[in-house]
Amino acid sequence: METADQLDEILSCRLDVGRRTVQPCTIVIFGASGDLTARKLVPALFHLYAQGQLPGLFRIIGFARRPKSNDAWRAELREAFLQFSHASELDAAKWDAFAANVFYCPGEFGDAAAYQNLRGQSDGFGQELLRRNLVFYLATSPSQFAEIADHLHDAGLLARRDSDPIGPRLVVEKPFGHDLASARQLNQELTRCACEKQIFRIDHYLGKETVQNILMFRFSNSVFEQLWTRQSVEQVQITVSEKLGVGGRGGYYEEAGALRDMVQNHLLQVLALVAMEPPVNLEAECIRDEKVKLLKSIRSFETGQASAFAVRGQYAAGAIDGENVPAYRQEPKVKPDSNVETFVALRLLVDNWRWAGVPFYLRTGKRLPRNSSEVRVQFRPTPHVLFAAQCGPNLDANSLTLRLQPNEGISLRFNGKAPGTNMEIRPVRMQFDYQAEFGAYTPEAYQRLLLEVIANDSTLFIRRDEVETAWGIVDPIRQAWAGQPLAQTDFYPAGSWGPVAADEMLARRNHKWRMTSDIPSAPKKEG
Ligand code: BG6
Repeated sequence: METADQLDEILSCRLDVGRRTVQPCTIVIFGASGDLTARKLVPALFHLYAQGQLPGLFRIIGFARRPKSNDAWRAELREAFLQFSHASELDAAKWDAFAANVFYCPGEFGDAAAYQNLRGQSDGFGQELLRRNLVFYLATSPSQFAEIADHLHDAGLLARRDSDPIGPRLVVEKPFGHDLASARQLNQELTRCACEKQIFRIDHYLGKETVQNILMFRFSNSVFEQLWTRQSVEQVQITVSEKLGVGGRGGYYEEAGALRDMVQNHLLQVLALVAMEPPVNLEAECIRDEKVKLLKSIRSFETGQASAFAVRGQYAAGAIDGENVPAYRQEPKVKPDSNVETFVALRLLVDNWRWAGVPFYLRTGKRLPRNSSEVRVQFRPTPHVLFAAQCGPNLDANSLTLRLQPNEGISLRFNGKAPGTNMEIRPVRMQFDYQAEFGAYTPEAYQRLLLEVIANDSTLFIRRDEVETAWGIVDPIRQAWAGQPLAQTDFYPAGSWGPVAADEMLARRNHKWRMTSDIPSAPKKEG
């Protein structure tokens, strides 16, 4: 048995002690009757409340068109909570105490009088910070952002405050524009009424534990960071695959497609964190500076070159887990001859000192065989001597996989000798598993993000130049596809890994798509 002095001391270090202070505040949610509010925002706020993480004094006001009383809205939220969360999570007494801070303000987004009512309501809260420390969450269509911000401004609820630590803040959901020009325009419109520091652009991927862990993993471990360069890394693959189709979101998806819905935001954010240089310090601006620098170093390509760098696809009918599912074109609110892509694969090159020549392969799609988001860093093979000379392509190169979801964790794949009298080499894995290490609890992305907004910390939000640079990367791809109908070969059966062209893009460089579970499981021992 090990004695205490044989065990390593577990050193853990809290970085946010004293940094994240939450002050009394009022959160106003525009689009209060929407799905996001009922499914994500209010449950996240309730969980924060139940865990004692919200400020001691807070108010939530829902702003939406339909007239209803505070009590009616509270009852709706409670019902939605029970529907979308585990009933066991609802502590009735805690919910009642939470709901007593929840109010409703009916109004049209374009009606100035409604904003005066809203002001009257928040002014009535008495306590100074509840009146002044205001968070406006725009859970609405982006086409309404500017109108709402202007009205808030005219009602005296929102003004440009550069240095006020508790000035009013705007939180906006994606999609932030639909291309570079519209994103720029939206930025201009919002910054008429609020400074950049007051605008929190949400990408919920940044609220995920595993995505936040990318920076910690890279910059608190000396072992891996030394390998994180073109000298050691052959290629990087980022996959975000979903089994679900577009379901009831056909109307939105017809305007978006996978490139706008997933690549411009989530995948490029993950790429930026994986590939960026170490920031000077952990302040929001320093981290975001490095992300922008990385995004700016992604090689842009001319419209004519798109096919060498980008593949799109759309799911046809097929089967997921043995169940037949319809084609995208048969989904509700989707045009029967739609050319919208539900799958994208890209080969991006990062033209900087660290990564020159290393391809970053990104792929995402709906109706793929597995729900899985992961980053796979594929290392270069050993020199062609010794084992490599004998095994040839059968000797696998090392790889490190960051599993973002599900089965959150990290695994390092390397070769080992299979036990026995034969000389057999096969890949094995070293694994870190979040659940095994820390237990099942990982907070929902929205809990973390809402808490950061309340604490006025913008590290996990997208800055203006970041969103614009990301659009600059995807716009040429979009333009290359515009007006070009999908070819027969662009359709993939639901339940497959996308069109063959996505494999061919890698095969041209002797690469292939890999997933963590490609590794064969260890043969079962007898007895
Ligand atoms: C959203 C997209 O931003 O992210 C959806 O609009 C997608 O289409 C979702 O399904 C994926 O998020 P998660 O957290 O389930 O990986």
